[in-house]
Amino acid sequence: MGAILSLFVNIFRPIYTPNLYFPIKPAYIQYRKTRGSEECTTTSLRDVVERHCTSLLKEYRPVWWLPGGHVQTGYCVIGDFSKVDKVEYDRKLLRLKDGGTLGLDFTPPANERTLPNDTPIIVVMHGLTGGSHEAYVRSILAPACTPVDKGGLGYRAMVVNFRGCAGTPVTSPQLYSGGHTDDLRQSLMYLSKLYPEAPLIGLGFSLGANVIARYLGQEGNKSRLLSAAVLGCPWDLVKNSERIEGDLFYREVYSKALGQNLLQMLRTNAATLSRVAAPHSPTAQALANALALKKPYLIDFDATWTSVAGATYPPFPLDSAEAYYKWASSAQFVHDIRVPLLCINAADDPIVRDLPIDEVRKNGWVCLAVTQHGGHLGWFESPERGDREAGGAFGLRRWVRKPVLEWFRATAEHLVGEQREVPELYEQDGWTVERGRESLGFREVEGGGKVVGVEGEGGLLSGL
Ligand SMILES: *[C@@H]1O[C@H](CO)[C@@H](O)[C@H](O)[C@H]1NC(C)=O
Repeated sequence: MGAILSLFVNIFRPIYTPNLYFPIKPAYIQYRKTRGSEECTTTSLRDVVERHCTSLLKEYRPVWWLPGGHVQTGYCVIGDFSKVDKVEYDRKLLRLKDGGTLGLDFTPPANERTLPNDTPIIVVMHGLTGGSHEAYVRSILAPACTPVDKGGLGYRAMVVNFRGCAGTPVTSPQLYSGGHTDDLRQSLMYLSKLYPEAPLIGLGFSLGANVIARYLGQEGNKSRLLSAAVLGCPWDLVKNSERIEGDLFYREVYSKALGQNLLQMLRTNAATLSRVAAPHSPTAQALANALALKKPYLIDFDATWTSVAGATYPPFPLDSAEAYYKWASSAQFVHDIRVPLLCINAADDPIVRDLPIDEVRKNGWVCLAVTQHGGHLGWFESPERGDREAGGAFGLRRWVRKPVLEWFRATAEHLVGEQREVPELYEQDGWTVERGRESLGFREVEGGGKVVGVEGEGGLLSGL
């Protein structure tokens, strides 16, 4: 009877502890005993996670009134986070060799605090049409960049806004795509030049997570990032698309919201794009076609715009949305990653299907944590006692900031990173370029200024 009862209880009791997937054969990494010390031990990623990211070994329970993936995701969009996690940025503009401009948002602003040159820097890539103002970005950067004496990590952070997002001026016929890694690559070149002594730690959300994972796979041991964490990464864009386009509910809710959001972003940039795109170029034609769309689903937008104008060089223009999804998917790059990567996904994420569990098992550098709940970038939980004020809207907190901050500290302060061969930078014709990849390069330009990261852009959904 007792056995039957306990079986019954076990079937109906929700599981709240994340599932952790580790490689079968670990990679061995050098780990400093204390911050800054020369004394090291050889350890594995699993050991680092189990000892230093203890939040991943404990339960994550969603707040009771947001129990499932859809409502957790919906709350990212409709919740009011404007009063919490305020982060101010200084924007720096980079001109790239292709004529484009990147808006890089640094926090803390230079006039607020001066930090030592070897302070770790968190390099953030945001989601679909977001920017440095997104609540999910601020919920991690606020504690990470708060001074140590006020309970934070005391780090610096830089958000790479996708071209055309968060008010970055568009100066070339290129916006972005989920597979375009060159803007991250050039932002990291700039950071390496500006802060050669600082460890650079990646943090990606959703589409930006895909860009970081893809970058890490492409670079292997040439990665400028010492380690990274990716949240809600849409690993396999083909499978995700099959799911959200193939089901009436998903199609009407998610595909429509994402497609229209992208179209709105494109409209915001349409006047500038039509000025800079050569007449009759694939980009100019794609722009005209995309602006003629009415309430497009995601796949229609990607077929019309992203697959053609996602970049201005090969393999673009591609001939279908599927071809773009296949090219951009980061799951196929997992086996080439050679720096520690922590991936966190939720099993009830309505947008992300099919996690790269087999790939993670085969690469010693990657760990995947799958929470049962949390939706797409939600992970809302009730505040701890005494924490209601800091928790903002209805006192909710994003659970995911705990393991991510633990991971930052464990890797930024303890990893040696000696197994990398980062390419050298040099000056060529007024550009800073990387040896062996001279087609990319940057220089700093005037502009930028102060950015207060609380408000979204008019007409765009935040939170995805
Ligand atoms: C980096 O990777 C290359 C190719 O996989 C390898 O030949 C080289 O030894 C590696 N470098 C280090 C420092 O591990």
